[in-house]
Amino acid sequence: FEVHWDAEAAEKGGYEHFMIKEIYEQPRAIRETMSSRLAKDDSHIILDELKWTKQEMAAIKKIVVVACGTAYNAGLVGKYYLESLSRIPVEVDVASEFRYRSPLVDENTLAIVVSQSGETLDTLAALKEAKRLGAKTLAITNVVGSSISREADQVIYTWAGPEIAVASTKAYTTQLVLMSMLAIYIAGLRDTISAERSRELISGLRNLPAQLHEILEDVESIKTFAQKYGFNEDVFFIGRSLDYAVALEGALKLKEISYIHAEAYAAGELKHGTLALIIEGVPVIALATQHDVYEKTLSNIKEVKARDAVVIGIAQQGDEQINKYVDHTIFIPKADKFLAPILAVLPLQLLAYYAAVTRGCDVDKPRNLAKSVTVE
Ligand code: G6P
Repeated sequence: FEVHWDAEAAEKGGYEHFMIKEIYEQPRAIRETMSSRLAKDDSHIILDELKWTKQEMAAIKKIVVVACGTAYNAGLVGKYYLESLSRIPVEVDVASEFRYRSPLVDENTLAIVVSQSGETLDTLAALKEAKRLGAKTLAITNVVGSSISREADQVIYTWAGPEIAVASTKAYTTQLVLMSMLAIYIAGLRDTISAERSRELISGLRNLPAQLHEILEDVESIKTFAQKYGFNEDVFFIGRSLDYAVALEGALKLKEISYIHAEAYAAGELKHGTLALIIEGVPVIALATQHDVYEKTLSNIKEVKARDAVVIGIAQQGDEQINKYVDHTIFIPKADKFLAPILAVLPLQLLAYYAAVTRGCDVDKPRNLAKSVTVE
């Protein structure tokens, strides 16, 4: 009698892949990100790690967010949060571009680098460049003691726990949560957020773990879509505003692990080119969680439907219109428009995962990709 001890299977804790394990860890990971950082009465964000004064924050004229891959996509969401709450102009750049373009950065700039591993070479180099130019620097990372955490003036950790799968999932959602908290925090220092809005967002943040859990409890329909459309060679993702940023992450996930060609488009930009590619039967994932641009998104959905695309809508619960215009809908729990991305990305991660499984891909170690890129 022999006992076979498979260390890797044990680490996966009963899940078939690290990626799906990490997808399911998100409610807990996010709870960790928020823990002890939300004031008990929801009145403000506590980021004791940050040593900025009101005066210092008042002097910031520009924020640059620099990152690679999924962390870059998180930066795009961060831009919406930071700009709208703190009213500071924000640029988002991929690290390999930023470091070589003589960026306009000075001592009135706050440079935020986002990196799960804290070791991505281009991101580290971009951070050094921003520092050299005199910017204040802040790292958002998951790994304590990583090169990026040591190089930055200040650091806030996502506390997502180790992420093993190459395709990033819980790192992304925890980065979004932390970005939203950072934006509320900075806006508080600059007096650009009302007490009411602050409270509304913080109580919305508190609801997220349970809401993510709710999505994860019933993934059958997502699995079915992935099995049904997993053999299409092209998939399009469309959305406006924050939904566009999430669409980019959804397309990246699908490309990375299922090798399906996916494109994300700002829904309003479709008619400037991409619409030519929308023909009968092409799957289009349409995100429609942003109420202020909802009607506009619906008209873009009608455009693709008119070309006989198969449309899967991602909408908030309570949306009674969407079903009239799409072939299927995946509903996410009702949330503030700012926080909807943290929920809306989940079905997209699951779609990518099940599509990759359907196609027999090596989910955790996709071809040609590495978890942490420490070369140029
Ligand atoms: C690699 C990984 C991606 C990740 C990117 C940035 O390309 O495959 O999943 O988003 O690096 O990594 P970082 O550790 O800096 O967030």
